[in-house]
Amino acid sequence: MSKRQPPHEQSVETLAIRTAQLRTEEMAHSEALFLTSSFVYDSAEQAAARFSGDEPGNIYSRFTNPTVRAFEERLAALEGGERCVAFASGMAAITATFMALLAPGDHIVSSRSVFGTTNVVYDKYLKKFGIDTTLVDIADLDQWRHAITDRTRILFLETPSNPLAEVGDIAALAELAHASNALLVVDNCFCTPALQRPIEMGADLVIHSATKYLDGQGRCLGGAVVGPQAPLEDIFGFLRTAGASMSPFNAWVFLKGLETLSLRMREHSRNAAVLADWLVAQPGIARVHYAGLASHPHHALAARQQSAFGGVLSFEVEDSDGKRDRQAAWRFINGTEMVSITANLGDVKTTITHPGSTTHGRVPDAEKQRAGITDNLIRLAVGLEGIEDIKADMARGLSAIGHEVTA
Ligand SMILES: Cc1ncc(COP(=O)(O)O)c(C=O)c1O
Repeated sequence: MSKRQPPHEQSVETLAIRTAQLRTEEMAHSEALFLTSSFVYDSAEQAAARFSGDEPGNIYSRFTNPTVRAFEERLAALEGGERCVAFASGMAAITATFMALLAPGDHIVSSRSVFGTTNVVYDKYLKKFGIDTTLVDIADLDQWRHAITDRTRILFLETPSNPLAEVGDIAALAELAHASNALLVVDNCFCTPALQRPIEMGADLVIHSATKYLDGQGRCLGGAVVGPQAPLEDIFGFLRTAGASMSPFNAWVFLKGLETLSLRMREHSRNAAVLADWLVAQPGIARVHYAGLASHPHHALAARQQSAFGGVLSFEVEDSDGKRDRQAAWRFINGTEMVSITANLGDVKTTITHPGSTTHGRVPDAEKQRAGITDNLIRLAVGLEGIEDIKADMARGLSAIGHEVTA
């Protein structure tokens, strides 16, 4: 097996293509896919040594698989972390991080602008094990500061957040976390290391839903945690035991996805920026949420910590009768013809969703209101189709709520 390492520090573009290439004696140019559940040993003695950890090597694909390891090494290099552990999904990565690092009595301070299912983990499961969460406004550092107690072990945020693309100050939050002996955990799903590297700004752990931009074509579920050896060893121990493992096939697909990550993220960002500007000028669009807009309250912060603004934006609609409700949002969505009505994001295909009744449908109404997830809010993950075609489809949505525009 040949595995050449990069000779010196390389760009994100190069790391995404060249890190941890996995080549067998067949010398295939594309990475090898080890589609096997277990591995064989030369002897009973060797099997025992592998299981006890006395001898490094492959054991069983729940926790050791060369293709998954290649994905982990590549993502660790991209994020600038010592180690990465891959999971079956983004939610498995998030849940494993909490289960591995927290104990009853511990406390999380989290941005309230997180993916709806992360909220369910806080409310329905962690609470059951005596772990409390305090939700705060992502951009209000005083709220973060006041929420921290001597039981706080983790500060958690997504930046930019889902679905409102709000931005948190990673460096300032890292300082707050470290002053309290807590870890700062950043879900970097919306930017990916192509646009933002939280560890360089002081974050301890970076979480990914690989399902999104790391794949990039909406094919496979996966997740990952990146960070220093010590917490990652605990997280790996949880994976080995609980078994929410990434499939080798999915890891192989993600390795392919990573090769075009920078290119795609630049184009997603370009299309989203053009569309955000266009939407702002349309009748029937009450508000556009995209940190790339100079008018967005987090624009300066996003410009400082991201190299582009990403592909996800959301907007609030108002029908021609002045109604800003769920019916208006649903009519807009149903009026589109090209974009895909689906909750996934990070795909080359533009996707449209109504967060209040899908991704954040299980978040209690009061919390949804506090988080700004209004009934007339629509999230668009802008894909790589021609921008004029995307605009034309948004014009169809606007027409369905009584506003005629020319794309
Ligand atoms: C920001 C963010 N984090 C985590 C997740 C969960 O990832 P997965 O669906 O791979 O479990 C999602 C899914 O939409 C997400 O948007």
